[in-house]
Amino acid sequence: MTTSGTKLPVVILISGRGSNFKALLDQARRGALNVDIRAVLSNRVDAAGLETARKAGLPVRVVEHKGFDDRAAFDKALAACIDEFDPALVILAGFMRVLTAEFVHHYDGRLLNIHPSLLPRHPGLDTHARAIAAGDPEHGASVHLVNEEVDGGPVLAQVRVNIHPQDDPVRLAARVLAQEHQLLPLVVEWFAGGRIRLDPDAVRLDGNRLDEPVCFAEGSIPPLTRGA
Ligand code: GRF
Repeated sequence: MTTSGTKLPVVILISGRGSNFKALLDQARRGALNVDIRAVLSNRVDAAGLETARKAGLPVRVVEHKGFDDRAAFDKALAACIDEFDPALVILAGFMRVLTAEFVHHYDGRLLNIHPSLLPRHPGLDTHARAIAAGDPEHGASVHLVNEEVDGGPVLAQVRVNIHPQDDPVRLAARVLAQEHQLLPLVVEWFAGGRIRLDPDAVRLDGNRLDEPVCFAEGSIPPLTRGA
């Protein structure tokens, strides 16, 4: 018997700072996010977020991509490590590795990613600089289910952030990141609350088709309610 009750078992993958992981941890600790964070995994031994996880007393594992001959071998080892913790949801929270189709299929419907752009605009890296360079009036972040395409898969929710004339990539990234810290826990709580259903024809939230992501303006993401 664990103390986690009916909490959704999750494993979180990070590659660096881990501030999105920390946002999930904080909400889980205050009882607003109904998840059992079973482990935090990284492909980098120096990922700063691992220290946060250790301090929180969470199991930490490192599977260094450098130690493997190819992507397939790394992904296999990573999946074996994840599966030890038997998660219902695997959350990529700043996990900077392209994953193989085999890996993605193994976690079909239970692999979630946060990406700092309004997908399908700007998949890949350097999204903040690219959004500014493109003259976009707005930027933001997306939480999506992962498929075989890089930053592909159905987008469940987005937050839009206006780009100001004086913005540079660092300032813009900071404003987007603050919103990410609210958007990711919100979507994870949708899963924890059993509100997301994956049907063959569509993803549904509370029974309604998500043909378009749920979209929030900057500052309008509803806070999670404690004990909800
Ligand atoms: C975030 O901007 C996330 O959207 C992207 O990588 C960054 C990770 O930041 N995938 P952190 O490690 O969560 O602080």
